[in-house]
Amino acid sequence: MGSATLLLALFLLSVLITAPRAQAATFKCSSGPTCNALIDYVSPNTTTLSAIQTLFGVENFLTLLGANSLPTSTLANQSVAANDKIVIPFGCRCSNGTGISDHRPVYTVQKGDGLDHIAVDVFSRLVTYQEIQEVNNISDPSVIEVGQELWIPLPCSCDKENGSAVVHYGHVVESGSTVEEIAEEYGTTEETLLELNGITDPKTLQAGAVLDVPLKACTSVVRNTSLDYPLLLSNGTYAYTANNCVKCQCHSSNNWTLQCEQSGLQISNGTCPSMECGSSRLYIGNSTSTTCNKTTCAYAGYTNQTIFTSLVTESTCSSTGNAPSYASKITLPSWRWNFVFIVSQLVMLYLHHSQ
Ligand SMILES: *[C@@H]1O[C@H](CO)[C@@H](O)[C@H](O)[C@H]1NC(C)=O
Ligand SMILES: *[C@@H]1O[C@H](CO)[C@@H](O)[C@H](O)[C@H]1NC(C)=O
Ligand SMILES: *[C@@H]1O[C@H](CO)[C@@H](O)[C@H](O)[C@H]1NC(C)=O
Ligand SMILES: *[C@@H]1O[C@H](CO)[C@@H](O)[C@H](O)[C@H]1NC(C)=O
Ligand SMILES: *[C@@H]1O[C@H](CO)[C@@H](O)[C@H](O)[C@H]1NC(C)=O
Ligand SMILES: *[C@@H]1O[C@H](CO)[C@@H](O)[C@H](O)[C@H]1NC(C)=O
Ligand SMILES: *[C@@H]1O[C@H](CO)[C@@H](O)[C@H](O)[C@H]1NC(C)=O
Ligand SMILES: *[C@@H]1O[C@H](CO)[C@@H](O)[C@H](O)[C@H]1NC(C)=O
Ligand SMILES: *[C@@H]1O[C@H](CO)[C@@H](O)[C@H](O)[C@H]1NC(C)=O
Ligand SMILES: *[C@@H]1O[C@H](CO)[C@@H](O)[C@H](O)[C@H]1NC(C)=O
Ligand SMILES: *[C@@H]1O[C@H](CO)[C@@H](O)[C@H](O)[C@H]1NC(C)=O
Ligand SMILES: *[C@@H]1O[C@H](CO)[C@@H](O)[C@H](O)[C@H]1NC(C)=O
Repeated sequence: MGSATLLLALFLLSVLITAPRAQAATFKCSSGPTCNALIDYVSPNTTTLSAIQTLFGVENFLTLLGANSLPTSTLANQSVAANDKIVIPFGCRCSNGTGISDHRPVYTVQKGDGLDHIAVDVFSRLVTYQEIQEVNNISDPSVIEVGQELWIPLPCSCDKENGSAVVHYGHVVESGSTVEEIAEEYGTTEETLLELNGITDPKTLQAGAVLDVPLKACTSVVRNTSLDYPLLLSNGTYAYTANNCVKCQCHSSNNWTLQCEQSGLQISNGTCPSMECGSSRLYIGNSTSTTCNKTTCAYAGYTNQTIFTSLVTESTCSSTGNAPSYASKITLPSWRWNFVFIVSQLVMLYLHHSQ
């Protein structure tokens, strides 16, 4: 038997051995085009939060902490034991009826790597080698080059569930758990999980399966023109947004309403723009109460230069019980003012020199 035939036989054998355990799934996704999503990662080896951040290309470390409800003081070098579960936040893109991570994570092929090893051992079967092969246009899965960059397509969705905004969470099933228990734990119903995941017989559920679990998201007044729209956060999680100028969190105890405040963080390339609601003297996160209504300055999204705010008034008297009314106001775009200021200085400098 030639060595090529032997290699082929070994390859087929390894596929046969690993195939029944591969549990990666595809999630239905017909809205979007983009949103934020979550997936479980069970690291096979002892590692650190910072290594996981790098592996999954999570841009903002605070967002990784927020998805895991970890305190903001957690250090990046914090160790993660083998088989511990870390929830990964990532951008999702819907296309052609399915959702996959939006061109992240990107894995750089190392010496000795094979596609199946990358799918199984590095990304813990969240994807199959066939899925990596397909999105990266690889014609022969046994031919990849050291240094080649591979897009790892994690499953996700942006669809609403029963008309409500949800965060789709790719939950890796632990051995011995049932669909009923998972539904109970994540505040959904067994029927929803079966329907969403196309499961006909709940007894067929296997450990390691990646289940699409819709987590109820807090409602917000973030506009559809905002760069972080739709900002979806599930109970107990937080995120930093608007270039880290704003911190938002979701707690079911706040009536499932997103609570945002000025982060107070120093941002690397400038100062945060004004976060005042008009000239109300109320800044994002502040509220005032009168006898029958409470007015809050809420975060309404951001663009390159502006943070949008919205004064939200809700009636606190049970007799009226009206839904909150929203009065939108745009703050002064102070980044633009800074820009105008710099330009005028440059113009003056130029005029001065040309005299
Ligand atoms: C983590 O980093 C901090 C400082 O950044 C250092 O004091 C600490 O010893 C480090 N811990 C580990 C486990 O490396
Ligand atoms: C969309 O999906 C259908 C079937 O699921 C497939 O035939 C078609 O090639 C896909 N189109 C694109 C652009 O991927
Ligand atoms: C974990 O260790 C195994 C064996 O050393 C290795 O093959 C695998 O790539 C490692 N996984 C990660 C995510 O580093
Ligand atoms: C794969 O090929 C298709 C068309 O053949 C192209 O649209 C797509 O961008 C390619 N994807 C990658 C990752 O190169
Ligand atoms: C969907 O919403 C309807 C009414 O809005 C409700 O009766 C039903 O229980 C909901 N289903 C789930 C799975 O939450
Ligand atoms: C964005 O919201 C406005 C109203 O707030 C609506 O008219 C518009 O159709 C929405 N656009 C998209 C793309 O959803
Ligand atoms: C929301 O999370 C908190 C803990 O962060 C928990 O006590 C509470 O029961 C959760 N609420 C729902 C409805 O799941
Ligand atoms: C909770 O929010 C709903 C709508 O989102 C509203 O109808 C209800 O009055 C609110 N309840 C309280 C106690 O604020
Ligand atoms: C600050 O930097 C971030 C990324 O580094 C960029 O997205 C943002 O637009 C920058 N903001 C300004 C005001 O230049
Ligand atoms: C508004 O919130 C900021 C923190 O975001 C706080 O420092 C300030 O005192 C608050 N102002 C009022 C009027 O409550
Ligand atoms: C606050 O409540 C009073 C009556 O209780 C009402 O007349 C007024 O319009 C409310 N203010 C706002 C901004 O909704
Ligand atoms: C936002 O910033 C990016 C790069 O920093 C730039 O390409 C884009 O045109 C800007 N958009 C607006 C609306 O200013």
